[in-house]
Amino acid sequence: MKGLILSGGKGTRLRPITYTSAKQLVPVANKPVLFYGIEAIRDAGITDIGIVVGDTKEEVMAAVGNGSGFGIKVTYIEQPEPLGLAHAVLVAEDFLKDDPFVMYLGDNLILGGIKELAQEFMRDRPNAQILLAKVTNPKQFGVAELKDGKVVRLVEKPSEPKSDLALVGVYMFDKNIIRAAKSIKPSTRGELEITDAIQFLIDQGYTVHPHMVNGWWKDTGKLEDMLEANRMVLDSLATCIHGHVDSSSTVEFKVVVESGAEVINSVVRGPAIIGRNARVINSFIGPFTSIDKNVQVISSEIEHSIVLEGSIIKEVDRRIEDSLVGRNVEVGKSPLKPTAYRFMLGDNSKVGLL
Ligand code: G1P
Repeated sequence: MKGLILSGGKGTRLRPITYTSAKQLVPVANKPVLFYGIEAIRDAGITDIGIVVGDTKEEVMAAVGNGSGFGIKVTYIEQPEPLGLAHAVLVAEDFLKDDPFVMYLGDNLILGGIKELAQEFMRDRPNAQILLAKVTNPKQFGVAELKDGKVVRLVEKPSEPKSDLALVGVYMFDKNIIRAAKSIKPSTRGELEITDAIQFLIDQGYTVHPHMVNGWWKDTGKLEDMLEANRMVLDSLATCIHGHVDSSSTVEFKVVVESGAEVINSVVRGPAIIGRNARVINSFIGPFTSIDKNVQVISSEIEHSIVLEGSIIKEVDRRIEDSLVGRNVEVGKSPLKPTAYRFMLGDNSKVGLL
């Protein structure tokens, strides 16, 4: 069995972060979302993995390399334009050959991995196996209609969903999906939808097995989802202090302090992670916060947030919450007169002032 990870797309719902970074490389608990997918596939015993890349290919390739760091072999497959998930299957045809494969959307996170799902697929050998999860906002997903436990209809982002069962971004296919992807037409959003390709399989009488996901699953395409994913993953970590926590600091509940990090005269209330060589001085780091490597938090309070590498948060009067701060960002007091806010914000930035 092979793996196919989709790591293209524009990440419009995570702008401005995604102007300069692939959405799949935004870290959750200081680890790129994409890496969780790679590890889930590897832990299912699959080591021959194709990664479909688009505009952000340089960055993805720099982060993942040839895969040896993960114990896998990576083949990069270029998708010249983001023309849909079924289109991604077509550009990967030479890599996939006739082999069965798991297709994993690089911005999806599934707690508990996919090992048993892959085993179930290889044992039962349906033509496709889809994962379904109950959601409160089915209009934003591919939606499945079941009858007597069988999939009868799949519709991509329906305006009137027939159920609350969303297609999770992890699919297992045999070679027939390629013919299906070649047979369908682009949707109204101009994409070859994998949802339509699977519907084609159903219409042609192929077997499509549904599998309910009972555990936690998230598509991290939006800020709220990133923060939720961050909460979930942080909560699953155990306390581990490699860096330096001075005697006037308190570290409570599940906290990871990575090597080279310093916590000075501060309180870190977990679940939280302080990345390599980060510095937390005279500050409060609250629950569900990921501070990435080389970040400095000085005389400030922050919780339920993600701060990416190299940023500085200094002398901010009020607590920062529910935030995603990009790389090398500076947030701090401005000593200049006149007293005023001074910004340099990227397009599509959001600032909440008091
Ligand atoms: C894609 C699929 C959709 C699926 C979702 C899961 O949506 O088209 O069927 O439910 O992934 O993450 P997209 O992220 O392209 O909007």
